[in-house]
Formats: sequence, structure tokens, C-alpha cells
Amino acid sequence: MLDQYGRKIEYMRISVTQKCNLKCIYCDPDGENCKDSQEENLAPEEIEKITRAMVKTGIKKIRITGGEPLVRKDVCEIISRISRIDGIEDICMTTNGVNLLKMARNLNVAGLHRLNISLDSLDEEKFRYITGGGDFKKTMEGIDLALELGMTPVKINTVLIKGINDNEIDALIELTRNRPIEVRFIELMPMGSFGEKNADKIIHNDDVINARPGLQYLERTDKGSPAVYYRMEGYVGKIGFISPMTHQFCSDCNRIRLTSDGKIRPCLGNNGEADIRDALGLKPENFEKIIRQIIADKPRGHHFGEAFSSSRKMNMIGG
Ligand code: GTP
Ligand code: 5AD
Repeated sequence: MLDQYGRKIEYMRISVTQKCNLKCIYCDPDGENCKDSQEENLAPEEIEKITRAMVKTGIKKIRITGGEPLVRKDVCEIISRISRIDGIEDICMTTNGVNLLKMARNLNVAGLHRLNISLDSLDEEKFRYITGGGDFKKTMEGIDLALELGMTPVKINTVLIKGINDNEIDALIELTRNRPIEVRFIELMPMGSFGEKNADKIIHNDDVINARPGLQYLERTDKGSPAVYYRMEGYVGKIGFISPMTHQFCSDCNRIRLTSDGKIRPCLGNNGEADIRDALGLKPENFEKIIRQIIADKPRGHHFGEAFSSSRKMNMIGG
């Protein structure tokens, strides 16, 4: 269905937990808000019910996020319930990759099509620093396994931070030389205290592009993705740029978010939320009516750069 600004809403991001097994500096450095409980999290059957109602409004693509979705024990059950819903065309996940080695096969069997994996450095020591103790090798092995299982394209998300990982841009681009990988450089957003306090550490994606004449612009095929894509001549993979700070993509936004604690948040950078857990007991047609209203009311866009302070850190919303 269309929202009040005529945007077709087809993509729902479902955060299944606020917990994470890493503590990335831009996400939740203090570890606070990293807790959640079984009772607070929507159960698999509740997620299925909400998704079924969403599909009736036109949702076709589902992304599972967290926190870190792979810390939730019943994540495969959630995926297999969603994958059985007629009308769902794409089920993907954003993960830090740490648990992929032990879970990727089961996720694939459950119906997960592809993976976006966060990787902010190729240097073991720096990776440990950025992630608050993460093991670079584990994430890389997870990426290799995803490729081996054909869960492609594997998209790698790199948040560029001045003075921390901006000297690795070319090395990250090299990952796309021989493999069906999309490396996406993301501008640091003011979500959480690190992003709010470090506006001077934002790298503008245009500067990255302009400094690399070898990058060839690719026509946009998927307007529903926030990334604009390029390719290095002769390389197999692609390089994407996600630029929420310098090029708002709100007019093309096609998504809403379901939080692990049962709220619909129609815009990442707008604190408006609607609690739908209590409405789950309603008759399906009444429940769908409520959802349609929430989608219709989706705000025009985010307000990064103005006096915006997010009510949720990234771990509480999943990007
Ligand atoms: P694809 O559909 O595979 O392209 O995935 P995606 O880019 O929608 O999902 P992913 O979880 O990999 O997000 C990549 C980056 O884009 C993260 O930093 C997200 O926070 C950011 N992002 C995703 N959706 C939005 C949005 O609606 N607004 C803003 N500002 N950023 C977004
Ligand atoms: N700014 C930009 N991207 C962020 N992510 C997490 N926090 C931020 C932020 N402040 C990214 C992670 C992950 C994705 C879901 O969101 O790298 O890949």
C-alpha cells in the first residue's frame, strides 16, 4: 500500500532481540540497553501473525535484525514461519557474522535467502577495538560460508569513521575483486552517543567516490535499497554507498520496522512508534486496519543533522 506521501511500503525490518554479542563503538559502547527478556520479545507466533497482516498490506520483503539476531535461539523457527507465508518474496538478515559458522546451514534450510554482514575492519586488532572484543576470523569465516552456501550476494556493511577505518577503504574494495560480494560504505549516523558526539568523524561518501576514478556508476536496479552502487572495472562484486547524512533517501523509502518489544517504528530517524502487541488479540480485519493506519501515517523522513536524539540506540532497532 501507499503511505501518505505516495511511497509504496513493501519492506519490513524485524528486530528479534536487542541483545548483541559484540559492543561496537557506534552502537552501544556501554552495554546498557543490551538486555532483553523472553517476555519482552515478541514470540515467533506473534511475529508470524504480524507478518501475515503486513503481507496483506503489500509487504514482500523481510529483513531479520537485532541487536544480533543470531543470539536468539529460536531465530530459525521465526524464519521458517515467515518463509511459509504466501506473498513473501525475499527473506534476508543483517548480522555481525559471529555465529554464522554454527548457524548458516540451518538458516538456509529454514528459508533465509541472503545475508548482510557487518565488517568494519580487515585488521584483527582494529576489528577487536571497534567491536569491543570481536574475533575477526570468525566473521570472515562466516562470510566465506555464506558464499559457499550460495546465500548471495553477500553484502558487507562498513561504517566509515574518520581516523579509525578510513585507511582501509581500498583494501575493503579489494574484497569485491573475485567474489560476489557487495561492500557498502555507510555514513555514520547520530544514533546513540558515539554518533551523536562524533559528527566530525563522518566520512562523506562523495569524497570516497571522487577520490577513486576507477569506480564506475551502476544504474539503480533496486530502488528499495538505500545503497547507490559502483563497480571497479573488471571486478566481480560491487561497491555500495549508503549516505543518510549527505543524500537523504527518504523519498524512496519503502520500509517500516518492527521492534523486538512489539512496536512499529515507521522511520529510523524519527522517534514516533506505535505499540501493536496489545492489538494482537483483535480480529484479523481490525488488526490489519490498525496496521494500515500506521503505515499510512509514516513520516516524510528523518531529521539527522537537526536537533535529533534517537529514543533507541542501534541495538534496539537493528539499523
Ligand atoms: P538491502 O535491502 O540488502 O540493500 O539491505 P538494507 O541496506 O536495507 O539493510 P541493512 O540492514 O544492511 O542496512 C544497511 C545500512 O543502511 C544500515 O546502516 C542501516 O542503518 C541503514 N539503513 C537501512 N534502512 C535505512 C533507513 O530507512 N534510513 C536510514 N537513514 N538508514 C537506513
Ligand atoms: N551509523 C551508521 N550505521 C550504523 N550501523 C550501526 N550503527 C550505525 C550508525 N550509528 C550499521 C551497522 C550494521 C547496520 C544494521 O547498521 O554497521 O551493519
